[in-house]
Amino acid sequence: MSSAVPMLEVKGLAKRFPPRSGQAESPWILADLSFHVADQEFLTMVGPSGAGKSTLLNIIAQVDGANEGKIFFRGELIETANGSALHPGWNCQFGYVTQDDNLLPWRTMIDNVTLPLKLQGRFDAAARKRVDELLHATHLTGFERYYPHELSGGMRKRASLIRTLAYDPPIILMDEPFSAVDAQTRTQLQQDLLRLWNLGRKTIVFVTHDIAEAIALGDRVLVLSKSPAKIVADHRIDIKRPRDLGNLYKLEGFGDIFESVRRDLQ
Ligand SMILES: Nc1ncnc2c1ncn2[C@@H]1O[C@H](COP(=O)(O)OP(=O)(O)O)[C@@H](O)[C@H]1O
Ligand SMILES: [Mg+2]
Repeated sequence: MSSAVPMLEVKGLAKRFPPRSGQAESPWILADLSFHVADQEFLTMVGPSGAGKSTLLNIIAQVDGANEGKIFFRGELIETANGSALHPGWNCQFGYVTQDDNLLPWRTMIDNVTLPLKLQGRFDAAARKRVDELLHATHLTGFERYYPHELSGGMRKRASLIRTLAYDPPIILMDEPFSAVDAQTRTQLQQDLLRLWNLGRKTIVFVTHDIAEAIALGDRVLVLSKSPAKIVADHRIDIKRPRDLGNLYKLEGFGDIFESVRRDLQ
């Protein structure tokens, strides 16, 4: 893979939703939004609630269309226009982890985790081995036959995470995946995510409204303005890995970056 071509490139993206009845024009949610993500980079984007973060990921995942702009995956143009035929997940190249765990309640944990692989006819010996490693790495071994309602919130979240990792897409989009859990579980999940990412580095685009989370996880943090979302700052995070997320303020450089992102957001 040529390193000159970014893994993902977003150029001049603009989006507004169709006006509601009685409304003359709806506001722009995204306007002239551009950025790129390198192969194996962990990119985080932090922006206020309502900035358009979910809208952006939906467009990248091809769940929704855009009014203007282009998206390139490894240099190849992805259709983004409103009204054109969308290909959700772009032929399985994008994994998408949302705020809800989206586990099917009538399937056991292991059946949830392996479902995408089975649907694609890719549940072979290698995939089985990868699933076992992921279960082990997230302390889910032994709970395979449990149904989602029998698992804790953190375990469900981990199952949903490894379902996406097992399916092995080159890019994973994550939309505030840990915002619905308590603080302690959240730190654990963040640490798990970094450990998993380190096992088989993928390109990740992770959006959050939480400054600390964005810095703790990312190689690079993009700061988004209020809607219409624009990139107001781009910080490289040189905090060395592995990072102990239980003690963020002890990480060298964390406090300074936190302060400057907080200023960017004002
Ligand atoms: N399907 C939709 N129709 C109309 N407006 C929407 C729709 N989805 C999101 N919006 C609006 O777009 C703005 C950005 O939403 P969203 O992308 O969810 O922000 P964020 O994820 O950053 O909190 C909000 O004002 C929201 O009300
Ligand atoms: Mg959102």
